[in-house]
Amino acid sequence: MRVIVENDYQSMSRKAALLLASQVNLKPNSVLGLATGSTPEGMYQELVKMYHRGEIDFSEVVTFNLDEYYKLPPENEESYHYYMHENFFKHVNLHPENTNIPRGMVEKVETECWYYEEKIRRAGGIDLQVLGIGSNGHIGFNEPGDRLNVTTKLVELTEETIESNSRFFDSLDKVPRKAISVGMATILKARRIILLASGKNKAEAIKKTINGYVDTRIPSSLLQTHPETTLIIDEEAASLL
Ligand code: GLP
Repeated sequence: MRVIVENDYQSMSRKAALLLASQVNLKPNSVLGLATGSTPEGMYQELVKMYHRGEIDFSEVVTFNLDEYYKLPPENEESYHYYMHENFFKHVNLHPENTNIPRGMVEKVETECWYYEEKIRRAGGIDLQVLGIGSNGHIGFNEPGDRLNVTTKLVELTEETIESNSRFFDSLDKVPRKAISVGMATILKARRIILLASGKNKAEAIKKTINGYVDTRIPSSLLQTHPETTLIIDEEAASLL
């Protein structure tokens, strides 16, 4: 596991965008795994700037997002469909048919999960997976527990995550309690992984990700078993290392 500590959020975002751009420039038809949350917003802004300067071309890129809230319509401003469209997709030349996000509104959720995995497999697997991290060490929506999901599944969110994500919703009871999330093995199958973290509230989770045991109660600690993982974190997130 490689750890890059940047001074602040801006330089963390720039570094992540540069890594992603070098992946796409080396392999124009890269399959990217994408994350949501406030952390990668700066990276998406940098990528949009690079695209406008002609430094990156997404015309052959395929993307798969990590997760989506269950039963939250894509037009809801807190859905990850909306987030991706507003923060990234609408600003660059990705073909809409090449972007994939689990569909939270489906009736047959098991079929959707199976189909999502199959689409990733048919695309040739993820070349570069971008991750954020929850303050409890969750990645995607793989929450801490005695057991973790291997593949894409419908998951229950923990109270800590519901509480933490309630800042984006009008009230706590508006936060969905379930989500569809890509599973741990699917994430760990990515050829390269970059995990971004910024701020003091991530410091404890980052410490446990790097220095702790590999433990399903800290899902991010499983990244220690992945040969090509780079953490790009700012000084505050690195403050307990
Ligand atoms: C959500 C997402 C995660 C993300 C996490 C952290 O729970 N499902 O993929 O890493 O939030 O979000 P933030 O970057 O806003 O702290």
